[in-house]
Amino acid sequence: MEKLGVLELNKIHQGDCIELLKQIPDNSIDLIFADPPYNLQLNGELYRPNQTKVEAVNDAWDKFESNEEYDKFTSLWMKECYRILKNSGSFWVIGTYHNIFRVGTILQNIGFWVLNDIIWIKTNPMPNFKGTRFNNAHETLIWATKSKSSNYTFHYHSMKVMNDDLQMRSDWLIPICQGDERIKVNGQKAHSTQKPAELLYRIIISTSNPGDIVLDPFSGSGTTAAVAKRLGRKFIAFDREEFYVRIATERVEKIKPIEKPLLEYKIEKRKPKVPFGNLIEKGFVKIGEFLYSKDGKFSAQVLADASLEGNGIVGSIHKVCASFLKKENHNGWTFWYVKRQNNLVSIDQLRHDYEKKYLKNENKSDKLEFESINIFYEPEESFLNYGDNGIQSV
Ligand SMILES: C[S@@+](CC[C@H](N)C(=O)[O-])C[C@H]1O[C@@H](n2cnc3c(N)ncnc32)[C@H](O)[C@@H]1O
Repeated sequence: MEKLGVLELNKIHQGDCIELLKQIPDNSIDLIFADPPYNLQLNGELYRPNQTKVEAVNDAWDKFESNEEYDKFTSLWMKECYRILKNSGSFWVIGTYHNIFRVGTILQNIGFWVLNDIIWIKTNPMPNFKGTRFNNAHETLIWATKSKSSNYTFHYHSMKVMNDDLQMRSDWLIPICQGDERIKVNGQKAHSTQKPAELLYRIIISTSNPGDIVLDPFSGSGTTAAVAKRLGRKFIAFDREEFYVRIATERVEKIKPIEKPLLEYKIEKRKPKVPFGNLIEKGFVKIGEFLYSKDGKFSAQVLADASLEGNGIVGSIHKVCASFLKKENHNGWTFWYVKRQNNLVSIDQLRHDYEKKYLKNENKSDKLEFESINIFYEPEESFLNYGDNGIQSV
């Protein structure tokens, strides 16, 4: 049994979240998702035009004497969240117009740094039955870190792929929880505010890694714990109500985690690009030597500024071969070869050799600058010292 301080991990604990949060060690949590009471303060019952009663959130857990009391409560649980979140961690909180502005102010006063507010647009919202206001069709999520300089996890490329190669936007269209997903007991909704699993899927997949610890102080029907377990994360969740803890625990027990290899963020691990100039600086390609096309029909000389010159054309490795081939663009990395001991060696191979030698540790990082990287050279290996690496002198 794995533990976090004195509390068992991968478990939904019953109790007041402020008391339970106090038992969690400082800087130990990777991701917190909080769906606190909304303080809806609904007055009276609400009926549809056909006189059927609307199942609104009217639970005791959502009732506060005043806004001041709500703020005090928010401040207490949120300060604990700040304390237990790792510097690299993400904090998410969801709310409606009833509470999100108060929650957002408290969050910023505590010291959290807001990265985004996400609008969850409900594709199937409950209508405004009285016809007195606009249809309230969204909720707001705030995504924050502990400070401006936090080195947080964000799987940007995965999010882009998820959105058909377009940058994932801050408005998420997701239906409210319904159908088979909705937990029912004796045919009745087990929890009045069960969040859709898609919402938690997007949050957990974008801002945490497999094996990370995900915490939910207001677990309800256990959506966060269920999705975290499915995605190979550890979880710890709290709820005051014994009934909710029971249904959530039963729900989570049925979840089978996705196999580890399927959870890898392969798309994020793209190799950094090595520019042609780096090969010259390190002596993989020599200034003044000739590059050749594979069939030997074309050749061009390497100039000191990493451009090529051939047949009166001067340009990059890409531009010169494109010009030879009378094309707009061509990939110079696959076109050009150098002669090494009477064999032709592709410059792309030299680039791989370079990556293997100098960048193998860089590839482990999730936070690479893909388009350009700065490398500091050891002086004895600068482009001034070629050594004997088999380059033919020209
Ligand atoms: C908005 S609901 C969370 C719903 C949940 N996200 C889901 O998908 O089912 C808030 C939950 O917080 C619980 N709660 C309220 N005050 C609490 C407190 N002080 N400590 C622990 N749980 C509390 C309520 O019992 C309720 O289940």
